[in-house]
Amino acid sequence: MRSRRRTAVQVVHWQAADLRKRIDDAMTIYGAAMGYPRQVAMARAGTTTQHTRLPDFRAVAAISGRALVGFGYGYRSATGQWWHDQVASAVPAETRTRWMTDCFELSELHVEPGWQGRGIGRSLITTLLDPRPAAHVLLSTPEGPTRALSLYRSIGFVDVLRGHLFPGDARPFAVLGLSIPTAADA
Ligand SMILES: CC(C)(COP(=O)(O)OP(=O)(O)OC[C@H]1O[C@@H](n2cnc3c(N)ncnc32)[C@H](O)[C@@H]1OP(=O)(O)O)[C@@H](O)C(=O)NCCC(=O)NCCS
Repeated sequence: MRSRRRTAVQVVHWQAADLRKRIDDAMTIYGAAMGYPRQVAMARAGTTTQHTRLPDFRAVAAISGRALVGFGYGYRSATGQWWHDQVASAVPAETRTRWMTDCFELSELHVEPGWQGRGIGRSLITTLLDPRPAAHVLLSTPEGPTRALSLYRSIGFVDVLRGHLFPGDARPFAVLGLSIPTAADA
């Protein structure tokens, strides 16, 4: 029997409309990767659709044949956005100024569990962040010795805020940041 794991995976840039078209597939992967019940994951579709209309939105997808096996996206982080305001109110003013002024929020990055640990997540994030979307990238990820944390650390993300509790989620999160210098900074 042919194993799906032998099928080649392509990582591609997506337009906002591409993500909106595959929103059910993306939310299915989000739920499976994060361990959320299906209805919780599907309820996120409206928020993700709103995210696709934010400034500097960009997305990437990992495709095997016609199947979506992973995706990631982000947008310019700004006052008035839920996540931005949560983090901004939890950090000192100097951290806000340093990290949140010219900032891209990496909002979601997920690989379907059966496809994890094969380099797809790394390929998704490096493709998403090239070309440089902003001076800084911020994200949050559940605390713990996870594959996500290893991946982000290996790319150069550092701690901005640890053990943060977002409303509606009992798990503590780490907020991590990456500074991306321009060629002129080198
Ligand atoms: C985080 C995630 C997107 C990474 O995707 P992935 O395809 O599994 O990751 P990769 O195979 O590219 O591996 C990336 C890194 O993870 C780490 N890693 C891989 N397999 C691992 C394992 N079994 N145990 C611990 N770390 C592991 C390594 O640092 C690896 O780097 P390497 O390329 O030098 O080996 C994916 O695991 C996922 O969807 N996890 C659940 C959802 C989640 O936490 N998303 C992020 C929320 S912010």
